[in-house]
Amino acid sequence: MSKEYRSPHADDYSDNPIRKIGVLTSGGDAPGMNAALRAVVRTAIFYRREVVGIYQGYKGLIEKNFKNMVSGDVSNIIQLGGTILKSARCKEFHLREVREMAYNHLKEEGIDALVVIGGDGTFTGARIFAQEFGIPIVGVPGTIDNDLFGTDFTIGYDTALNTIIEAVDKIRDTATAHERLFFIEVMGRDAGFLALNGGIASGAEAVLIPETSTDITTLENYIKSGYRKSKNSSIVLVAEGEKAGGAFGIAKQVEENFPQYDVRVTVLGHIQRGGSPTAFDRILASRLGVASVEALLDDQQSVMVGISNDAVELTPFNKAIKYDKEVNTKLLDTIHILSS
Ligand code: F6P
Repeated sequence: MSKEYRSPHADDYSDNPIRKIGVLTSGGDAPGMNAALRAVVRTAIFYRREVVGIYQGYKGLIEKNFKNMVSGDVSNIIQLGGTILKSARCKEFHLREVREMAYNHLKEEGIDALVVIGGDGTFTGARIFAQEFGIPIVGVPGTIDNDLFGTDFTIGYDTALNTIIEAVDKIRDTATAHERLFFIEVMGRDAGFLALNGGIASGAEAVLIPETSTDITTLENYIKSGYRKSKNSSIVLVAEGEKAGGAFGIAKQVEENFPQYDVRVTVLGHIQRGGSPTAFDRILASRLGVASVEALLDDQQSVMVGISNDAVELTPFNKAIKYDKEVNTKLLDTIHILSS
């Protein structure tokens, strides 16, 4: 252990006026949200703060669905997928008068600050809410999409990737047995991270992502080279936001232009959002959960805590939302080299 190491002390932030912290999970659930919640609750308690769980994201703020949390409330949840606080996509929170009601509920409850765990929709709401009512909020990136600027990884992404490769490995058995061409659609909204890295890890012949366009002839060349090798089957991963209409859109074009292929489509869907978080996601969630409470007690607000080169980093909400995290398109080259 290095000489400079000093362990945290319960009195480290005793001067900070924040006494009660609310925590919620919002938007699409992601494996590791519970591990993040556990870390937020235990860190707040460690620094002698009260902590209140808010159910169903912003909906729970509006409906005052609150519960004081003690350490035991987050026992035995680090390994659970989903979120014990439940989540929601809350349209009403777009209205100013609804947000005002939410703020009044926080005041009534004596909640001084919030930790919000979610993706860009969650942070967009948090940014406006913080601006309007001056409440300190720190965000923790929880989404399988990995599409947030300001963090190398979001909580849930690694677990979703592992779910994808497990599913693709199974589909490959059928693809090979029947000599078929499979288009497998994965989640990620408008971002290709899951498709790209899922494609590399499952040995896909090609990957189609929203960030680049692949014409149908080039795609056929990739598929042909796959068939040449074995190989009589091929797997193509398609990101759901892909411009030609996802896996079904692409499959239709291929069937029309190249009828020699026996084409099938599988949409992995919400299976990608479930399951026990991987070690990577549990560790990431634990680190970011601790960092979020420390950031609040350090007077930070309207920032997202993230990980960059293995160090915790803070990014203002407006940047995390506005800027696109770029996919490394070099990874497409990796796929093409390895499948040729
Ligand atoms: O943002 C997470 C995500 O799973 C996306 O990958 C997907 O597009 C979306 O949520 C699906 O949302 P819902 O579960 O509300 O249909």
